[in-house]
Amino acid sequence: MDFEDLKNKKIKVGEFVLMTVPATIEYARDIFKIMQSDSKNMIFWMPDGLFASPEQTLVGYYNRNNSARCMLFGIFKDGKLLGEIGFSGIAKKSGKVEIGYWLRKSARGHGIINKLLPRIEKMAFEQDWCHKIQLHCDAKNIASKTIAEKNGYVLEGVIRQDGKWPNGLLRDKLYFGKLKSEWKK
Ligand SMILES: CC(C)(COP(=O)(O)OP(=O)(O)OC[C@H]1O[C@@H](n2cnc3c(N)ncnc32)[C@H](O)[C@@H]1OP(=O)(O)O)[C@@H](O)C(=O)NCCC(=O)NCCS
Repeated sequence: MDFEDLKNKKIKVGEFVLMTVPATIEYARDIFKIMQSDSKNMIFWMPDGLFASPEQTLVGYYNRNNSARCMLFGIFKDGKLLGEIGFSGIAKKSGKVEIGYWLRKSARGHGIINKLLPRIEKMAFEQDWCHKIQLHCDAKNIASKTIAEKNGYVLEGVIRQDGKWPNGLLRDKLYFGKLKSEWKK
């Protein structure tokens, strides 16, 4: 399937449905609430700062859904949005994608990302142009680091003081990668 076409599909993976989160004010309110109620962890997902309002969330999702560099899928179970997983960076010309994910607090600790990651990897590596998946996380993000390690991603580097938190503190970033040749179909 053409990569871009995945954006408009509902993809079933076990008990979950992956689907682009529609840019509507109802979802924007839900997502804003999820982010605000767990800002301590959600800042790992949006290190430059969380959306300041449901309206800003709506604009953010509208722009993201229409961006060629991004393809994130809402993770739905029984109609409820649990989080997102997908491609937070698409660099077709250089043959790489970056994977990203988040879950609402109540959905964590059940291995959901571990279950969905192989399907996301398949979407990427089935594209002729894609030779590498990257996964970046903050050095303090133990959950994400563990996911990368358990799913066979190679730690390629630690970039020290790679950015700043909104409060000005410096942050180190871990760069993980998986090559197509390392992918177990
Ligand atoms: C990253 C995230 C999606 C992971 O959720 P999850 O898939 O439910 O993952 P878990 O909470 O089960 O954690 C994954 C693993 O890390 C381990 N882990 C998590 N926090 C840990 C901690 N503080 N110390 C030690 N181990 C920890 C878990 O035990 C689990 O290990 P296991 O596979 O052996 O059971 C979720 O934490 C999240 O949404 N975080 C905020 C957004 C974010 O950080 N996104 C990623 C940006 S790179």
